[in-house]
Amino acid sequence: MNGAARPVFSLDAPEARVYVGDCRDLLGRIDECARGAVDIVFADPPFNWRRAYDEWNDAMPEEDYLGFTFDWLDGCLRALRPGGALWVNIPDDWAAEIACYLKGRLGRTPAAKTDLRSWCIWHYRFGQNRVERFINSKVHVFWFVKEGGAATWNPGEVLELSDRRAIYGDPRTESKKDGMPPGMRVPMDVWYGQFWGRIQGNNAERRGNHDNQLPEVYLERVIRSTSNPGDLVLDPFLGSGTTGVVAHALGRRFIGCEFSRANAASAFARMKSGPVRLGAARAQSTAIFPARVARRASSRPPSGEGPDAEPKPAGAPRRPPRKARP
Ligand SMILES: C[S@@+](CC[C@H](N)C(=O)[O-])C[C@H]1O[C@@H](n2cnc3c(N)ncnc32)[C@H](O)[C@@H]1O
Repeated sequence: MNGAARPVFSLDAPEARVYVGDCRDLLGRIDECARGAVDIVFADPPFNWRRAYDEWNDAMPEEDYLGFTFDWLDGCLRALRPGGALWVNIPDDWAAEIACYLKGRLGRTPAAKTDLRSWCIWHYRFGQNRVERFINSKVHVFWFVKEGGAATWNPGEVLELSDRRAIYGDPRTESKKDGMPPGMRVPMDVWYGQFWGRIQGNNAERRGNHDNQLPEVYLERVIRSTSNPGDLVLDPFLGSGTTGVVAHALGRRFIGCEFSRANAASAFARMKSGPVRLGAARAQSTAIFPARVARRASSRPPSGEGPDAEPKPAGAPRRPPRKARP
């Protein structure tokens, strides 16, 4: 190691450390990262959107930004243990390049081989209004696993109410054969729902001076599903500290890097005071139809109907349209 990095802030029980500087430089100088002992990385980098970050230049030429991106990705891959999880939150602009890089399909070879386990979408309401094209309301969420070891996957920690239970009270959801508890399912790979919106306005989670804070429920899903208590979580772009806040509250050890000292101080203060929404979205339904249970004589949905249903083959007989209720 070329001069061990020193944390600027730290907490105990479980241990949490915040480093100030460029993560590309810091990662090789933090013992656990240099040894490849990190269990899970969550990275929400600057998007090169000319944001007024406290200190970081968010307006690089495209080639420089891609070089920066591949460098920090390599630093994270080296920091991970074999089987460790690499999560990346990234918009349309750069998602394709990151996916291709980590899959080894670009000219430059990544520092480790990975397997793309899930390509999720974080869907949020209140995307910025526009009229010249569709309103953007999503960010890509990659879950890669570093090859060479066992991945951690705890679906039981993040289950939600199935639509069949929530909408229809369908008895088939009460005797499931997939090993999940009655009425529950693993979340879909499009993430949305109550408390999943962008953190804006008078949102209870909001921190001043951070305009790209992620919701706590998002990090809760990531951390619960792919790490265990006592595991080591790394966030190379700490920002307002959402990853650190949730990781610490869930009993995970934590390392955070942040370029801006002011942001690091604010994130650390937030880690000390703790989350405001922990558990708020657990086991909830994300159904987009209201419950029909009370309105039906039988709670069983007609086959082929409902949001979980398979599409009908072309030419399949259609049900006659329902009459409007008086
Ligand atoms: C998109 S924000 C992270 C937001 C965070 N996920 C949250 O929920 O608050 C990116 C952060 O990375 C920091 N940053 C930018 N470049 C960095 C670098 N090279 N090393 C460390 N931090 C950096 C910025 O100052 C900014 O606070």
